Amino acid sequence: MIIDELEKRLRPVEKKLPPYPPKVITLASGEKMVVRQATRDDGPVLLETVRPLIDVERDFYDVVAARVYSELLGWYRYRVADEYCLVGTIDGVIASLVNGRTVNETTGMSYHTITIKRGLRCGAQMFAAKMEYHFEYLKQKEVLIVAESPIGYKRWMIEYQLEARPQVQHELGGVPTHVLTEPLYQAAKPRLVTGQRPVSPQLLATADEFIAPSEYPQIPGFKR
Ligand SMILES: CC(C)(COP(=O)(O)OP(=O)(O)OC[C@H]1O[C@@H](n2cnc3c(N)ncnc32)[C@H](O)[C@@H]1OP(=O)(O)O)[C@@H](O)C(=O)NCCC(=O)NCCS
Repeated sequence: MIIDELEKRLRPVEKKLPPYPPKVITLASGEKMVVRQATRDDGPVLLETVRPLIDVERDFYDVVAARVYSELLGWYRYRVADEYCLVGTIDGVIASLVNGRTVNETTGMSYHTITIKRGLRCGAQMFAAKMEYHFEYLKQKEVLIVAESPIGYKRWMIEYQLEARPQVQHELGGVPTHVLTEPLYQAAKPRLVTGQRPVSPQLLATADEFIAPSEYPQIPGFKR
């Protein structure tokens, strides 16, 4: 791709982030959720997946989906530095996704978690995978986290006993910041970070091409 001079100046300088090795999580239903890191080529299907949820007020899907959409579009079009996205799929269909970015060597910025397939704690598993990425693979010391919904607050602030640090500004607009520190991560890890590696080639192949969901429990009668 030829990038012209002005475009080069607009793009952030990006670090090459260490890869997140794929894993498989067996859900309460017995279904296998494959978690793998998205590449920029996956951008369009991720945007297609999130877009319908922008109109869903219930459980703050609208706020979170609109923000995730903007963050993923910014990443896809090179307008945010050092962002990553991890995706959980069941038979290739996107069940839940998480994103975030690195601020510097020691600090991570958690952006969002959004679940399409509800009732199986896919989002809780994906949030744990995101924390695993920050601590085990990016080797960071802490992650800044906010909640935009009561479910999120229960899942992250209460479940992980996050440290409140309201004096620190999170990138998501002044919502009170909480922090997962390394000791808190290590305490939560045996209980909350699950999954097996390596993923068999056959199972991993199901997640080669992400598939946008054809059903959304949040949107009765949804038709694409
Ligand atoms: C927060 C979120 C990622 C958690 O995902 P998850 O772990 O997969 O959990 P679910 O959404 O399936 O379920 C959460 C709760 O909703 C309820 N729930 C479950 N299935 C449901 C359904 N089909 N419809 C409505 N509510 C449902 C249950 O009370 C459940 O709580 P429990 O599992 O502790 O009993 C997800 O709820 C979500 O995407 N919410 C909207 C965006 C959001 O708030 N993101 C977090 C921002 S901080």
